[in-house]
Amino acid sequence: NNYCVIMAGGIGSRFWPLSKTSMPKQFLDILGTGRTFIQMTFDRLKKLCPAENFLVVTSVDYKDLVLAQLPELAESQVLLEPLRRNTAPCIAYACNKIKAENPDANVIVAPSDHLILKEEEFLSQVRMGLEFVTEKDALLTLGITPNRPETGYGYIQIDNKFDFKSLDNLYKVKTFTEKPNLEMAQIFLESGEFFWNSGIFIWSMKSIMSAFDLHLPDVAELFKKGEKLYGTADEVHFINKTYSECQNISIDYGVMEKADNVYVLCADFGWSDLGTWGSLYENKEKDSDANSVSGENVLLYNSKNCIVNMPNEKIAVLQGLDGYIVVESDGTLLVCRKEDEQQIRQFVNDVKLLK
Ligand code: GDD
Ligand code: MG
Repeated sequence: NNYCVIMAGGIGSRFWPLSKTSMPKQFLDILGTGRTFIQMTFDRLKKLCPAENFLVVTSVDYKDLVLAQLPELAESQVLLEPLRRNTAPCIAYACNKIKAENPDANVIVAPSDHLILKEEEFLSQVRMGLEFVTEKDALLTLGITPNRPETGYGYIQIDNKFDFKSLDNLYKVKTFTEKPNLEMAQIFLESGEFFWNSGIFIWSMKSIMSAFDLHLPDVAELFKKGEKLYGTADEVHFINKTYSECQNISIDYGVMEKADNVYVLCADFGWSDLGTWGSLYENKEKDSDANSVSGENVLLYNSKNCIVNMPNEKIAVLQGLDGYIVVESDGTLLVCRKEDEQQIRQFVNDVKLLK
């Protein structure tokens, strides 16, 4: 009865120039483990749900990438979006499609580009979560203890503990604030009442459908119209039309901030969003000067705290750098101070204007 939806339509722009629109982060083996992020996500979740109950939602441009990287999936399990409309439409599409097949399903929704180091702990939390949402009308998310005022995440303020089985880490959520500004993030962090939203959601079909009806009725309405078309030859045409009419909104802003039946299961399963070069640096092995280097021909002199990512065939010589990101990919070179990495999104946009 369990289904998994993997969201894989993002463009991972802060990992530029390695991650780019033609090859975003979820399809890269940035850690050098031999498996890409989406493959690791699939491997992990397969322990909770059979391969035939997976759906990957992605851009039409990444169809071949997904099928090549996840050969266990049938073409019909890769849902193709004609336009990028963020995560609410992505989830509405997948859930409506699952509903047509199994209206009593439980659904795990997962991003395709996260690192989870403690897999057993993660799996046991999700199993408990699935039991919980089977009994309770709840939108459940996995919560992470914050350690810095990160502005790229959702912040969850907890209310009282919720009694379920022997769990002592399940809370009713008081407020959900997506991507606060730095000042707010600082206040949230210091209050000790907040967790980060991991972006991994668990809910029953019934709960997510009523949440869409209540909080995003226009999106709900659009995707319901396809009730009889999912799985037929008309699905693609219907979806292309639906996406062109649908608003662009994330599930966090569209549903999680507004709903009053949000719950959080807080746990430490070695989670990292690995959203930026800096977070990758934190998770990589470093040499004695605290440099993390990838590439066979990189020479460092009097340099420390740097993350360097060069293709093996390129030669790089660094002298006197402290705390820099140096990345080359496909003829594009980025040199940026680690502390300024949030600006990378901006660079990506500006570079598009060149030529
Ligand atoms: N199919 C599809 N279509 N997938 C998408 C789209 C889309 O339009 N946009 C994003 N995704 C995928 C991304 O590839 C990623 O796997 C996941 O959905 C989340 O999107 P992000 O764009 O990475 O979201 P975020 O990191 O800004 O914020 C979310 O994750 C944080 C934790 O990493 C939110 O849920 C935050 O609340 C959360 O803290
Ligand atoms: Mg993200």
